[in-house]
Amino acid sequence: MNKTELRIHTWPEKILRKKLKKVDEVDANIRQLLDAMVELMVAKNGIGLAGNQAGLDLRLVVLYHDERFFKLINPEIIKKEKKIMSPEGCLSFPGLEVEVPRFERVWVRALNENGDKVSYEAEGLLAIIFQHEIDHTNGLTFVDRLSFLNRLKKRKILKKIEAQTKSLLCDLYQGRT
Ligand code: CO
Repeated sequence: MNKTELRIHTWPEKILRKKLKKVDEVDANIRQLLDAMVELMVAKNGIGLAGNQAGLDLRLVVLYHDERFFKLINPEIIKKEKKIMSPEGCLSFPGLEVEVPRFERVWVRALNENGDKVSYEAEGLLAIIFQHEIDHTNGLTFVDRLSFLNRLKKRKILKKIEAQTKSLLCDLYQGRT
């Protein structure tokens, strides 16, 4: 089998707006995609990546925290506690940093790469990564969490990211990269 080649999808590519499909069966193909996502995330110095950011319409999330890789399938937040503001970046929005309203502590349920049920109680950075990535699987980005005013303040850089994405896609379709 050929190695899966994935690329980071950036704003405003449509797949970032998509509510991703639930994975019905955790098989070798899914495990291969998760490995390819980890590889892409590491190559881009990211700490979290959701399926659609890698061009996959599947509810997959990989993340790196505390010297450990997590590979999650169909992750969902089942409980959250205490509102906070969180400074974040996103591989799909290169150069954009924003303060996003999040929860300090979350409880997450998912399947692992063997198809076993797993659950996590997380706080701090891990809780933030879970929320950011699970939002992606529901077609939401951190920009959707901003107030109208804060989004307006970032319109210049958002326009710049949109222009960069359009020029990259143009090159891709013409086979120049
Ligand atoms: Co992101």
